[in-house]
Amino acid sequence: MIESVTELPRLRALVAGWKREGLRVGLVPTMGNLHAGHFSLVERVRERADRVVASIFVNPTQFGPNEDFSRYPRTPDADIAGLDQAGCDVAWLPSVAAMYPLGIEKAMRMHAPGVGETLEGESRPGHFDGVCTVVSRLFNQVQPDAAAFGRKDYQQLAVIRQMVQDMAFPVEILAGDIVREADGLAMSSRNQYLSADARVRAVEMYRTLQAMREARIDGVEIAEIEGNASQRLRNAGFVVDYAVLRQPSLALPDAGGSGSLMALIAAKLDSTRLIDNLEF
Ligand code: PAJ
Repeated sequence: MIESVTELPRLRALVAGWKREGLRVGLVPTMGNLHAGHFSLVERVRERADRVVASIFVNPTQFGPNEDFSRYPRTPDADIAGLDQAGCDVAWLPSVAAMYPLGIEKAMRMHAPGVGETLEGESRPGHFDGVCTVVSRLFNQVQPDAAAFGRKDYQQLAVIRQMVQDMAFPVEILAGDIVREADGLAMSSRNQYLSADARVRAVEMYRTLQAMREARIDGVEIAEIEGNASQRLRNAGFVVDYAVLRQPSLALPDAGGSGSLMALIAAKLDSTRLIDNLEF
């Protein structure tokens, strides 16, 4: 049976007990409103841990001033029930005051240069600083041996890996594959913002990623692929932040390089911002 914990001393006591028994601790950080993508990360981290903590915290420091912090869906009861079913041991639900005891203005903060500065970093200034700020706090609170992040947020995963290496956090980072709806749309808590009509058009994001892959296999130039992808998305009613090809490191593709590539898209449908990617 899962235990939900809202106070840091209780969390610390549980984790200390596990560590005394020599058990490995796994962490799945989330913002709640959980779906099969999140639950797959519980299974992923379970491969490397004896006890699993999932955190649910809608982190104010990673949202921009005009983003959806206040309307982000909050469904803790359903989340805890789902985590229980997924085999999670503890749901960690800190209050804002537990996460930021000095208040948000006085909070120590991380800054994520390098891989955090392109793509999402350009579209959402300060976003990865907020992600690293909260994930480093979660690492200190939970003291996990392993933590799992989804490839859906591919750049976030890269930023977290960079932070762990740079800050020498003793945490093994695991990646989980993208879990999709039957039509291919990547599962996301934000999908429920979509109107019925927009939900139908949303699948064009995944189709565009697939078309980018096919075009590259056919030898089409990168700039042309990116231009066609943006146009295709606009035709479906998206406002495009980016539709690009990158190396898995997120560096620009080599001229004439072979090797694997990533197609990455961020675009808005009505007021809903969606991201997705495909590695090939
Ligand atoms: P959230 O959007 O709730 O996502 C939590 C984790 O679930 C992330 O690692 C994300 O990549 C993964 N995830 C989301 N949708 C997925 C899908 N369709 N398939 C596979 N994995 C998926 O990402 C965050 O929260 C926050 O930035 C957080 C890391 C918790 C820091 O606040």
